[in-house]
Amino acid sequence: MTVRDIFDSMAYGPAPESDAEARAWIARHGGRFGHFIDGRFTAPGATFATRNPARGEVLAEVTQGAAADVDRAVAAAARAYPKWSRTPGHERARILYGLARLVQKHARLLAVLETMDNGKPIREARDIDIPLVARHFYYHAGLAQLMASELPDHAPLGVCGAVIPWNFPLLMLAWKVAPALAAGNTVVLKPAEYTPLTALLFAEITREAGLPKGVLNIVTGDGDTGAALVAHPGVAKIAFTGSTEVGRIIRKATAGSGKALTLELGGKSPYIVFDDADLDSAVEGLVDAIWFNQGQVCCAGSRLIVQEGVADRFHDKLKRRMDGLRLGDPLDKCIDVGAIVDPAQRDRIAAMVDGCAEGETYRAASPVPDGCFYPPTLITGLSPANPLCQEEIFGPVLVSMTFRTPAEAVDLANNTRFGLAASVWTENLNLALDIAPKIRAGVVWVNATNLFDAAAGFGGVRESGFGREGGWEGLLAYLKPKGTARALKPVAAAPEPAQPRADGIDRTAKLYIGGKQARPDGGYSRAVWSPGGRLLGHVGLGNRKDIRNAVEAAHAAKGWARSTAHNRAQVIYYIAENLSARATEFADRLSAMTGKPGKAEVEAAIGRLFTYAAWADKWEGRAKPVPMHGIALAMNEPVGVIGALCPDEAPLLGLVSLMAPAIAMGNACVLVPSSAYPLAATDLYQVLDTSDLPGGVVNIVTGDPDDLARPLAGHLDVDAVWCFGRGDLSAKVEAEAAGNLKRTWVNHGMARDWFAPASEGAEFLRAATEVKTVWVPYGE
Ligand code: NAI
Repeated sequence: MTVRDIFDSMAYGPAPESDAEARAWIARHGGRFGHFIDGRFTAPGATFATRNPARGEVLAEVTQGAAADVDRAVAAAARAYPKWSRTPGHERARILYGLARLVQKHARLLAVLETMDNGKPIREARDIDIPLVARHFYYHAGLAQLMASELPDHAPLGVCGAVIPWNFPLLMLAWKVAPALAAGNTVVLKPAEYTPLTALLFAEITREAGLPKGVLNIVTGDGDTGAALVAHPGVAKIAFTGSTEVGRIIRKATAGSGKALTLELGGKSPYIVFDDADLDSAVEGLVDAIWFNQGQVCCAGSRLIVQEGVADRFHDKLKRRMDGLRLGDPLDKCIDVGAIVDPAQRDRIAAMVDGCAEGETYRAASPVPDGCFYPPTLITGLSPANPLCQEEIFGPVLVSMTFRTPAEAVDLANNTRFGLAASVWTENLNLALDIAPKIRAGVVWVNATNLFDAAAGFGGVRESGFGREGGWEGLLAYLKPKGTARALKPVAAAPEPAQPRADGIDRTAKLYIGGKQARPDGGYSRAVWSPGGRLLGHVGLGNRKDIRNAVEAAHAAKGWARSTAHNRAQVIYYIAENLSARATEFADRLSAMTGKPGKAEVEAAIGRLFTYAAWADKWEGRAKPVPMHGIALAMNEPVGVIGALCPDEAPLLGLVSLMAPAIAMGNACVLVPSSAYPLAATDLYQVLDTSDLPGGVVNIVTGDPDDLARPLAGHLDVDAVWCFGRGDLSAKVEAEAAGNLKRTWVNHGMARDWFAPASEGAEFLRAATEVKTVWVPYGE
């Protein structure tokens, strides 16, 4: 090749990164690894190979973790926990800071090893993955330092189990390990079977940082090892990132166990390009959105939604850019697109694309090397219902659709079961900021894509899972409110007396659905007796159909979410005012049902309504100072429709304690009141009726919680379910919630003092909101 040829083609020559150091590290371990437990490597057991997907060669043998290995690791973490959790925040901060420094010192080795094991271009491992890992530890060193002063009422959870995927092996480790350790937990982590090596190298590095033994343990293995960790009774929390399918399995496996859970699952993120966008920037962004890490990114912008008038021009520009992408050996610094992690994944991608008979497929011109590669691919002309527009392909395959109006763009964007991320491209700030809140996603990038930072929460809604990673909100997922838990005492309704006394006119309280009283669908009701044997009234027994109607009514009331916070506050004050006007009547009703004085509970309920009227316009978001051109706004959005099973211990105050934060934050709710003492709730709807609360914002379905918990928790149009009823309902609720992976908040049979200050405020407001991180350009 002549110099002239080079100038003509502008082709880069190969610029290979040396793998010598990484190979030497593997060789120092004899090419075979055990687990990392209690501060040291165990002897290798039954092993499996981990390969370099670009070259197909075996890199090392790692041990398939058995249940006994998980036991040993959890035991080590449990032994280390008491001391680590009591280590002052400053000490933990120093160690996390040390880890950040060491990640930087070993950055090249970590990057090369990551590329060899995963197949991602070295440019990405070197410039994105590893710097973000270091940043994560720096940031969390800061959180550890500030925890005592900023979150004095919180305590760590215990031993945390982390199960992570193969697409960002070390970064996902950092996302789990940094907040867990900052908060004072100890960890057992299982890396993905395709990519265990950087986790093992990191474990070795923790010794240099002085991390006490047992605080971080790594057990390698496949899904069975992960399942053993998830099932282990010594684990207090599971943090999982991976497929929605496995997320659902884990949700079911942990149901009723009392384990905390966060799930960061799949996505099918929209990439919306309006006709006034800077198209060249949007093309560059899209290259990053879908071809970064070969598209094996949970938040990959895998659905292009482009405005009709510019679609052809945009596709042409995109195709030209695709043709310039270079596929090849990921260790070559000039490579744009590396290898797919494993032949099984490549075959899966190929099968999905080959199985699609619709549309037109365009493949990048760059030759596809032998080995585990798949070319950048664009498919246009698909209908939105096509499986390729609905299912996660998890490869370098972009599907494209067009739209005419902003409303249509939003409809298309929201037309999947996922809700992880979205990009919006337009030069019109009004338009971008109009669209961002309408998209169902945990993260929205305006004129940008795939921006990540430790300070900014990341995570999804709907079937993309729940929980946030990063920021204060991510740290809170590794903490619980301080306090000693005591078991909930069962509360039983007063039984039917031997000699019933019915004085006065019988009244059957109906259900309250869509702002109207409704007869229960089944046509059944039951008598409510006072402890002294007096008939207090009848209450309707709701069923599955009533729950369905209530959820439908709640959806129809979605306008509440768009009402102003000031307006919501006014309505809640008005409810308090009207309850206050009837305080004596409510107090009498409570004491008639429970046999105890009711005045204090009514007063507390009025106070609680005031609290949430106050909070309605004060539960502020944050503006995160992220280290790139822009700012990340953490917006507190309503969750949507919340189903809540209310406590028996405080039939009025408990219900108000759940209802008020839910509606203050703009949610609609379906409440199942105490079944032992339901009449306080059915009296309350008369108060709601006269307080300007729009119909459907609060729906009340009385009945047997055994009949109502499952349909409510399983309903696909319910976004979150809270259960403060009988302890054994928690397991049912969590298991049923696996269907659409809705958020749950349950009592696990533990009592709560509903009168206590801890039973109002931040914990409740957090449950009633989703943090949406909106990245906007800002400043220089
Ligand atoms: P996966 O969800 O099966 O694996 C993720 C992790 O979970 C691995 O460490 C695995 O060993 C572990 N695991 C598997 N079964 C388990 C179980 N029953 N209990 C506990 N842990 C278990 O993902 P996989 O099979 O590697 O990839 C399949 C598809 O999943 C991909 O094509 C992609 O669509 C999706 N995926 C999504 C990711 C995301 O970040 N959203 C990451 C990885 C995969």
